[in-house]
Amino acid sequence: MLDINTQLNFENIISKKGFLDLTVDPTLDLFYEIEKFKKEKNAIILAHYYQDADIQDIADFVGDSLALAQKAQSTTADMIVFAGVHFMAETAKILNPHKKVLLPDLNAGCSLSDSAPPLLFKAFKDKHPNHIVITYINCSAGMKALSDIICTSSNAQAIVESLPADQQIIFAPDKNLGAWINKQTGRNMVLWNGACMVHEMFSYEKLTKLKVRHPNAKVLAHPECEAPILSLADYIGSTSGILKFATKSIAQEFIVVTEAGILHQMQKDNPTKTFIPSPPNNTCACNDCPYMKLNTLEKLYLCIKYELPEIIMDENLRIAAKKPIDKMLEISAKLNL
Ligand code: 13P
Ligand code: SF4
Repeated sequence: MLDINTQLNFENIISKKGFLDLTVDPTLDLFYEIEKFKKEKNAIILAHYYQDADIQDIADFVGDSLALAQKAQSTTADMIVFAGVHFMAETAKILNPHKKVLLPDLNAGCSLSDSAPPLLFKAFKDKHPNHIVITYINCSAGMKALSDIICTSSNAQAIVESLPADQQIIFAPDKNLGAWINKQTGRNMVLWNGACMVHEMFSYEKLTKLKVRHPNAKVLAHPECEAPILSLADYIGSTSGILKFATKSIAQEFIVVTEAGILHQMQKDNPTKTFIPSPPNNTCACNDCPYMKLNTLEKLYLCIKYELPEIIMDENLRIAAKKPIDKMLEISAKLNL
């Protein structure tokens, strides 16, 4: 435990910077140190596929948003260190009010989550009475509290299809995922106008040219991409779906249209296959999520060592946000997802 003065000093740093800004001895073996703290504190590190390779390698579990929520629900660890973005760590806290849930950098937000402020969404929802609200997990606890069922890209279609065909639905916040589910299911869900800045960056023109240069490559895309990009895909699915497809496929070459972090596990699981990241529509590395990449191995080390920054939630908000998450986990368990 930290002494009170150090704790106050660290809380001050966190409230200003969102992460512990301390110098880390460059000679330290961070893998060894993190492993040591994991055992000492009975901590689990959960990481999303979009994290840096080092973070994925030190994690106890790497997964997509659904698998991470399921793991957070079932873990017996006392402490969860979440190597992902804020809404993911917040979901883990919602499911584990008595555990310490840590996020290496509190600034690790999400453009998609930011595109749905709860106050504006409440007004939108009020204009659509008799609609069930299905909300993508990439949203704040405030949005979850306004929702009936949460979904992820792994279970969105199944969740929509679990409702009667004539049930009116609002789908938020991702308009691209919503439009894709509408197309898959023949429904006409009302869509909130939100999107992910990373998945909207892919260039149709460059992807078309890449396909011509690699005629045998299968194109694997995430449903957060826009419809024209999805029209070029051989497979559309969540990060874990993309990974599974590449592993099962007899194809040897794949063009990957999602955040570049996934390439690490794809290559690890399939060392002889070739994975080509789809290019964004300019010259920057925009297929790296700037929020996901705020977490570093150094910040992860400081976070597990000092047990900061921690996710703290208002209890009433937590209870309200838990209901639609429980509903999602219940439906997913029934459907074996
Ligand atoms: P999944 O890993 O659940 O497919 O989500 C992708 C994503 O954008 C997470 O922020
Ligand atoms: Fe949010 Fe997009 Fe980053 Fe995922 S990739 S965390 S949806 S901004």
